[in-house]
Amino acid sequence: MSKSVTATKDSGDNTATHLNFFEKFKRFNPLESSLGVLAFFFVASLFIASFFYLDYKGFRSRGTATVLHLDFSSPSSSAPVQFLSQDGDKCDVFDGKWVWDETYPLYHSANCSFPDQGFRCSQNGRPDTFYTKWRWQPKDCNLPRFDARKMLEKLRDKRLVFVGDSIGRNQWESLICMLSSAIANKARVYEVNGSQITRHMGFLAFKFEDFNCTIEYYRSRFLVVQGRPPFGAPDGVRMTLRVDHMDWISNKWRDADVLVLNAGHWWNFQKTVRMGCYFQIGEEVKMNMTIEDAFRKSIETVVDWIANKVDMNKTYVLFRTYSPVHFRGGNWNTGGGCHLETLPDLGSLPPVSDIHFRNVVDILSERMNKSEVLNLDLLNVTQMSIHRRDGHPSIYYLGPGRTSSMWRQDCSHWCLPGVPDSWNEILYALLLKREDFFERRQHTTKVSQVPL
Ligand SMILES: *[C@@H]1O[C@H](CO)[C@@H](O)[C@H](O)[C@H]1NC(C)=O
Ligand SMILES: *[C@@H]1O[C@H](CO)[C@@H](O)[C@H](O)[C@H]1NC(C)=O
Ligand SMILES: *[C@@H]1O[C@H](CO)[C@@H](O)[C@H](O)[C@H]1NC(C)=O
Ligand SMILES: *[C@@H]1O[C@H](CO)[C@@H](O)[C@H](O)[C@H]1NC(C)=O
Ligand SMILES: *[C@@H]1O[C@H](CO)[C@@H](O)[C@H](O)[C@H]1NC(C)=O
Ligand SMILES: *[C@@H]1O[C@H](CO)[C@@H](O)[C@H](O)[C@H]1NC(C)=O
Ligand SMILES: *[C@@H]1O[C@H](CO)[C@@H](O)[C@H](O)[C@H]1NC(C)=O
Repeated sequence: MSKSVTATKDSGDNTATHLNFFEKFKRFNPLESSLGVLAFFFVASLFIASFFYLDYKGFRSRGTATVLHLDFSSPSSSAPVQFLSQDGDKCDVFDGKWVWDETYPLYHSANCSFPDQGFRCSQNGRPDTFYTKWRWQPKDCNLPRFDARKMLEKLRDKRLVFVGDSIGRNQWESLICMLSSAIANKARVYEVNGSQITRHMGFLAFKFEDFNCTIEYYRSRFLVVQGRPPFGAPDGVRMTLRVDHMDWISNKWRDADVLVLNAGHWWNFQKTVRMGCYFQIGEEVKMNMTIEDAFRKSIETVVDWIANKVDMNKTYVLFRTYSPVHFRGGNWNTGGGCHLETLPDLGSLPPVSDIHFRNVVDILSERMNKSEVLNLDLLNVTQMSIHRRDGHPSIYYLGPGRTSSMWRQDCSHWCLPGVPDSWNEILYALLLKREDFFERRQHTTKVSQVPL
């Protein structure tokens, strides 16, 4: 009742203003009147133009200390869609571009003591810092600005677990730095058993004491079991990958609240068959199984494990897609490099053809079709990261003042701060979105499936 009264009062005021305006207008003589109309249109168009300018500026400086937040409430306005709003449901956050942002990076590596030396490019002597200044901007919506405190609040009493190869570790260390930027007393962030991060081989869990949450990393390069060959295996078989059997250690991450899996970088000839590591199904070593078939089989094993062993009501599972490498003129062991790449590739690049990417995507989309139980998200970072040839340590991974030989560059891992921060910003957005989605679902009967 009181609402409608207010509304009436408002429109009454508006009418009065308009009437006054026309009252004044009527007093102009014809010449003055047409000048007046011209002047009116001139002023009006300046006014409108200034709005577009402000909107543009507001968009560019989104999230900075001086945010210009123009909230156009009319639906026909060109205000950017926010991913977290309902309008953002259909937005593909992985389709976009890298934009320069003066407010980046989100943290400074000198203020975060956790990461491995190998990721501290600037401290190791990398002279340029442009690589820390790029923000990922989806084409059709805006991501929420990363808010460490808010993410920690969402993770209160929870476990967020990364499992995979050293790129997974790279992303895990990035998230620890991003989150710890909100903690003034760094002593309240620690490894639960006091283990040192550097060169640690197994698994580690960092606790954020104030939020009783842990951010964990489990090394599992293949996600399936790697071990001794079965009795009576042919000569030359030193190890096997049991592609039909999930890594034994998976019982430790099965109950995580958020689980981010990845695999790919170790699924190649040099790191398997060449080393005498063959593939095994059941008790049988498959001497001529191709790497590609073995990788496919392992992903199927992972998917089956998720479907059968993970409580999807509790655990939010994401699979991060292949992280691209940028070896120019060779490979990691044949002198390829990315040294002196200081800018991203801002043009368009051909879509990902990498077999590790395609296999994962194909199998996941096949299985998602068959079973509604399997509700997981893809952290589809491959294409966005292909643009970031500037983001790798190159020769700056050995420590302060030491550079590696040009023949041994690191163009697979990423400098921190850097590209994995952007993956984690998307992870943050997906976590919030998922929560919103479930809240909304509780209030509506008809539900649309969250897209893969
Ligand atoms: C991943 O993102 C790229 C870039 O937007 C897109 O072309 C591709 O279709 C996406 N793949 C999947 C499976 O969503
Ligand atoms: C890093 O730490 C220094 C000293 O504690 C502080 O002055 C500076 O603001 C910090 N920088 C960031 C980005 O947190
Ligand atoms: C901390 O979180 C764990 C779950 O990860 C929970 O079991 C435990 O009760 C929590 N502790 C406190 C003090 O809330
Ligand atoms: C910490 O130590 C306990 C006891 O040895 C062990 O059970 C646990 O797995 C360890 N956790 C991590 C993350 O290393
Ligand atoms: C694998 O090798 C065996 C003999 O060593 C052969 O009989 C079989 O056809 C091969 N399988 C494939 C898929 O190439
Ligand atoms: C998941 O939650 C739904 C609805 O709350 C329930 O019907 C279902 O049994 C749960 N599944 C498991 C595996 O707990
Ligand atoms: C998924 O299911 C839809 C309809 O049920 C079908 O049209 C589509 O071809 C299926 N996709 C895959 C990858 O199986």
